[in-house]
Amino acid sequence: MDSLGLFILLMLLCSQWTAVPAAEETTWTYTGLMGQSEWPQYFPDCGGTSQSPVDVATTQTKYDPSLIPLTPLGYSQHGNRPFTLYNNGHTAMIELPEWMGLGGLPWLFSAVQMHLHWGSGGPSHGGGEHTINGLSADAELHVVHYNSELYPNMSAAMTQRDGLAVLGILIVTGEETNPAFNNILNYLSRIRHADQKVLIPAFDVQSLLPKDLGRYYRYNGSLTTPPCYQSVIWTLFHERVQISKAQLLKMETILYSSKAEDRDQMLLQDNYRVTQPLNHRVVFASFSAESGKELSSGEVTAIVIGVMCGCVGLAVIIRFIVKTIRMKEPEKVKEQKQDMALNSTSAAEREKSPLPSLQTEP
Ligand SMILES: *[C@@H]1O[C@H](CO)[C@@H](O)[C@H](O)[C@H]1NC(C)=O
Ligand SMILES: *[C@@H]1O[C@H](CO)[C@@H](O)[C@H](O)[C@H]1NC(C)=O
Repeated sequence: MDSLGLFILLMLLCSQWTAVPAAEETTWTYTGLMGQSEWPQYFPDCGGTSQSPVDVATTQTKYDPSLIPLTPLGYSQHGNRPFTLYNNGHTAMIELPEWMGLGGLPWLFSAVQMHLHWGSGGPSHGGGEHTINGLSADAELHVVHYNSELYPNMSAAMTQRDGLAVLGILIVTGEETNPAFNNILNYLSRIRHADQKVLIPAFDVQSLLPKDLGRYYRYNGSLTTPPCYQSVIWTLFHERVQISKAQLLKMETILYSSKAEDRDQMLLQDNYRVTQPLNHRVVFASFSAESGKELSSGEVTAIVIGVMCGCVGLAVIIRFIVKTIRMKEPEKVKEQKQDMALNSTSAAEREKSPLPSLQTEP
């Protein structure tokens, strides 16, 4: 290769090294000039055919009995080293120790980080990324792992098919505070601006997950932020976790996507991507439709009342039958007595002796 060729190659490499990270780290946004509809212009993979998030139409999912429950490895043995909580301008992220991992997939995966996606309008106004039958959650937690059996590190794995495994946890709001989430939410005020980091006490990461790790949806997809690499084995849990309205409000209103020194301060809100077309992909379910059918509280109430009515009805019937039998016994005895009385009378009349059989009655 001549020196001009080498020079051009170097220039190309340099421009790649400078242009791409700049675009990745700072430029893209969720709305506006560099909003999600423009991502594919700058990050070609974002225009690919296996993008995330997706809508899971539960009637279109395919039951796969080989999908065993996932096993978080070391999630609860967080150790004493603090976690780093980081506002990267797009989300609040916690870096996870590499010895945390995930079992139950064809390869061993090591934990890298977890982060959140949320909205801006409070409960029932969206904020989650994946939807189920078109319904949005209020927020979504992603726990990101890389395939440490096949690749040496996250950067090598993130561009490869089967390189990453991400757990998606849908978050909805209710009355009760979820103490596990306070391990993150309590420290958001320390990283209000982009690029800020804070050390926080380590905590049990599994406490953020739903209890039922056996029922989930599985599909091949992508990172939900640029560069949108199509390298993710997705696991979306069927069970959703619940936080309080106050906790959601904190998540939605404390952080800025702008840096502390920026003149215009922008709240970090609505950091979720819209659902992407499935394009012939199949979403698998680890559970069958019948066992997965969740009963609404109305249906549960109906069943409870039905069962109670049934029990009461049965009790009444049994009581009635018992009563009838008990009633009939003395009647029969009486009839027998009368019969015997008649017999004995007639016998007595014949033999002139007074009712001897009655004395033997108990
Ligand atoms: C990741 O692994 C690749 C391949 O072994 C290596 O070239 C690269 O320097 C590593 N990156 C980091 C951040 O360790
Ligand atoms: C994901 O893609 C791989 C490789 O093409 C394939 O073997 C696997 O079955 C796919 N998994 C799902 C859940 O679609």
